[in-house]
Amino acid sequence: MEPVLKIENLRTSFMTSSGEVQAVRGVSFSVEKGEILGVVGESGSGKSVTSMSILRLLADTAVIKEGSRIEFQGKDLIGLSKKELRKIRGERISMIFQDPMSSLNPLIPVGKQVEEMMKEHHPEMSRDELRKQTIELFAKVRIPEPEKRLSNYPHEFSGGMRQRVMIAMALANKPDLLIADEPTTALDVTIQDQILRQLRELEAEYQTSIIFITHDLGVVAELCDRVVVMYGGLIMEEALIDDIFEHPSHPYTMGLLASIPDVHQDKSVRLQPIPGSPPDMTNPPKGCPFAPRCPYARRICASELPEFTEVGDRHRSRCFLQYPDAPADAHNPFKSAVDPHP
Ligand SMILES: Nc1ncnc2c1ncn2[C@@H]1O[C@H](COP(=O)(O)OP(=O)(O)O)[C@@H](O)[C@H]1O
Ligand code: SF4
Ligand SMILES: [Mg+2]
Repeated sequence: MEPVLKIENLRTSFMTSSGEVQAVRGVSFSVEKGEILGVVGESGSGKSVTSMSILRLLADTAVIKEGSRIEFQGKDLIGLSKKELRKIRGERISMIFQDPMSSLNPLIPVGKQVEEMMKEHHPEMSRDELRKQTIELFAKVRIPEPEKRLSNYPHEFSGGMRQRVMIAMALANKPDLLIADEPTTALDVTIQDQILRQLRELEAEYQTSIIFITHDLGVVAELCDRVVVMYGGLIMEEALIDDIFEHPSHPYTMGLLASIPDVHQDKSVRLQPIPGSPPDMTNPPKGCPFAPRCPYARRICASELPEFTEVGDRHRSRCFLQYPDAPADAHNPFKSAVDPHP
């Protein structure tokens, strides 16, 4: 099946007074129809810049480098003008962000904002139809008493309800792809769970593909079918959801896993964060970007960037320890030093 979105070798930099910030350094992944893909990584990994590159919602200082490819439903997006991209946005591709206030107009009732979004792409719809569909959408995202809430302003909603309004707006034109950038990060755990459950239901109903960006692997576990793990502007590991938890194959992923509470444990227990901090992308490390923090790093890691190795079905990892010729020793968590089948 043709993927809905295919990104190949995406490289995005910012040209700043202190030099070129190489935010995304060659990212490739695709999203299938009806699939929920998680993009996970610590702050600064390049998740948002990757997603903002798709519809080119980037600062003026940003440059998408030569050779990058972004194909949506078989159509190249890199060659499109900003005007053409605006037409795709909101109709075929929608985005929701951590702070709904940044996308909602504080001076216009929420119902009207959703209606306008629909009308922009469907000018033939009558006022009654627009209103009726907006009420249906609000009911679908479980805004209580939707008819009454249409005339409310954004500030009259709680954070969780505002995010529901955003989801309703994002789904208004039944997009083929929804990009959600940390939409539940600012919400408390109960509300977050409700919204995640709802996104799953909506995905099943609309068959919308979703890219869900988060720094939290726990959220990925609840929602996603597949995941890419990003660090230092690169993908470190990509796998189906069960594989990432059962057979993580990259030390960075293992670090992220150790920093989330066990799914069966009390969620308030925070475990080990990975010591150290992410690299400065003005001067990214020559070798593996995780080398300065990796407990398994060896000499080659600081000087060369590992390629991907296939480590399973739809499972790839960018780490020297997974190379076929990597030694099995006490410092390689992926290869047992003792041959289990002598
Ligand atoms: N407008 C910008 N100008 C300069 N650097 C930026 C800009 N936006 C993001 N960056 C840098 O790009 C890198 C990736 O950022 P981002 O994609 O926002 O990370 P994430 O979403 O994973 O937290 C970071 O080093 C960040 O500082
Ligand atoms: S390539 Fe080296 S530094 Fe990078 S994750 Fe693997 S072992 Fe660690
Ligand atoms: Mg971000």
